[in-house]
Amino acid sequence: MDFKEQVKSSVDIVKVIGEYVRLRRMGATGRYSGLCPFHQEKTPSFSVNQSRQFFKCFGCSVGGDVIKFVMDIEGMTFWETLNLLAERNGIPIPKRTEYSDAESKLRGALMDMHALAARTFQANLRSPQGGEAREYLVRRGLSDEMIEAFGLGYSDPGWDSLTKRFSAEGFSAELQESSGLVRRRQESSGHYDSFRGRLMFPIHNESGKVIAFGGRAMSSEEQAKYINSPETPIYRKSYVLYNLHRARDGMRHSNRVVLVEGYMDVIGVYAAGVKEVVASCGTALTATQVRALRRHADTVIVNFDPDTAGINASERAIQLLLDEGLRVRVLSLDGGLDPDEYAKQHGAEAYRAKLESANGYFHWLADRARVKFDMRTSEGRMDAFKFLLPSIQKISDRLERASIANDVAGYLGVETGLVLDQLKRSATERRAPVPQTPAQASISAIERILLTALLAGQDVREQILPRLSAQMTEAFQTREIVDVLRQMAPADGPVPFEALEGRLSPAAQSLLHQIIAADDTSDETQRLEHAHACLRRLEADRRKGQIDGLRARVKSAEGEGRLDEALRLMAELTKLERDNQKGEGL
Ligand code: UTP
Ligand code: MN
Repeated sequence: MDFKEQVKSSVDIVKVIGEYVRLRRMGATGRYSGLCPFHQEKTPSFSVNQSRQFFKCFGCSVGGDVIKFVMDIEGMTFWETLNLLAERNGIPIPKRTEYSDAESKLRGALMDMHALAARTFQANLRSPQGGEAREYLVRRGLSDEMIEAFGLGYSDPGWDSLTKRFSAEGFSAELQESSGLVRRRQESSGHYDSFRGRLMFPIHNESGKVIAFGGRAMSSEEQAKYINSPETPIYRKSYVLYNLHRARDGMRHSNRVVLVEGYMDVIGVYAAGVKEVVASCGTALTATQVRALRRHADTVIVNFDPDTAGINASERAIQLLLDEGLRVRVLSLDGGLDPDEYAKQHGAEAYRAKLESANGYFHWLADRARVKFDMRTSEGRMDAFKFLLPSIQKISDRLERASIANDVAGYLGVETGLVLDQLKRSATERRAPVPQTPAQASISAIERILLTALLAGQDVREQILPRLSAQMTEAFQTREIVDVLRQMAPADGPVPFEALEGRLSPAAQSLLHQIIAADDTSDETQRLEHAHACLRRLEADRRKGQIDGLRARVKSAEGEGRLDEALRLMAELTKLERDNQKGEGL
């Protein structure tokens, strides 16, 4: 067994995917479904088949085995994925050099460099040179426990201690530069550290590996308050959320997540006992990040800074979150405090109570509208209402939509008649274009049942294939799959899935995925029975086709006066009809 097979056979696809997507079991059949992590949807069309160790989305048509899933969701190469799964399951990993391609090697080296940098920064913080940084952390009220939990560190203020460390470990200058942790000097030759004399926040990917850093200045004289790692082959900013790997479990349990603006806010909220908290790392929230949230929770509580930047960012974030189908609440804290400051000044319990009482996004948006528009005039009130309308329209439930529209209108002092008018108008506008996911060819029930049976076992193939003539499958949408099955050497047990898949065209592969993902037969013994029933139907259809053909020929022979021929055809027809009755009686 090669390494890939070994990894695949020792993990369960449902367990692995279940870490990234909330899956629900469908009946007792080993089929699970959930919201697809690869495209936007509000009702689940993503399906995982446990007995075949296979996933498929009927909405966007992605599908494949556990390795394909992890590659796609983590954005990893094939070898990285194998290594990750092996590592998580205690499978010994063959030497990297034997098994990795150039890209995996590059990314592996970058990961190693980040792990080394994180250790170095942490050691610096504990060492005498970290004294000032430790004092700073104490002033900001960070406990040792949080410093440890978040892996905080300190970067040496000298110019090149990390650079030297990397060189000593044998990382080439080229690798060092592409890590983003080291820069090339402009004027002279040589390299220097990107982060110097800063408090270091390691940023992790969803599997908990350090892939970047944020570095905070410790005095306000410094030019940039934060310096963040640049994008690298292992760090795509628009994909990563700070603290997601630690927040994941809490998100699943509470079915919510608190979205804050900064690193310090995340730590402050976490320290207040709310572990389901994340931030984007110094960039505006993206749809990809929102989808990552949605994989683990349904409700997002937006708790940004109460300054202008924070308010504008909240408005954007709310729209984006609603677009991706999340439930949104907004917490704005009084006294101009950000979450970190609030929890410190008022205590963990007070902060948690505030969270619980956070209102639906509507109240917050309505308050925004009252500030933005002149509420003394009826035009101003109408403009305020129109400002809210797009978010009202995103409520999918009709009754809830109407009721909230009424609430809001009352709150803003807009006439109810006008409200209904506006709602209707935008409803018709909304209905016009119907964006559709690419049409899925639907496969007839007969084909589906026959194929799942053929794929399941050798006895079915032995009994059914010889009776399934080329003529019978001529009009099959899945003809290519049946043809390949006919050609494949008879093997015991289920058809080796990959061997079959590898011989199919992309279109046929997609059909195969659909069939497998939809397979919910739990009783294997029924498969053969079902296959026989399908076969009888096909045989009957074929005979009926022949009979109809013969009848037409009899008719035209009679019409054209070729009586001998007509008689001969009649005899044939009678015989066929008799056979057919016998056939149907079977
Ligand atoms: P804040 O200025 O609110 O930082 O910026 P903070 O995390 O709350 O830190 P303290 O409490 O002021 O020390 C919010 C986030 O915006 C990004 C960082 O990710 C920061 O956590 N940011 C801010 C930058 O990337 N660069 C900056 O210069 C400032
Ligand atoms: Mn802040």
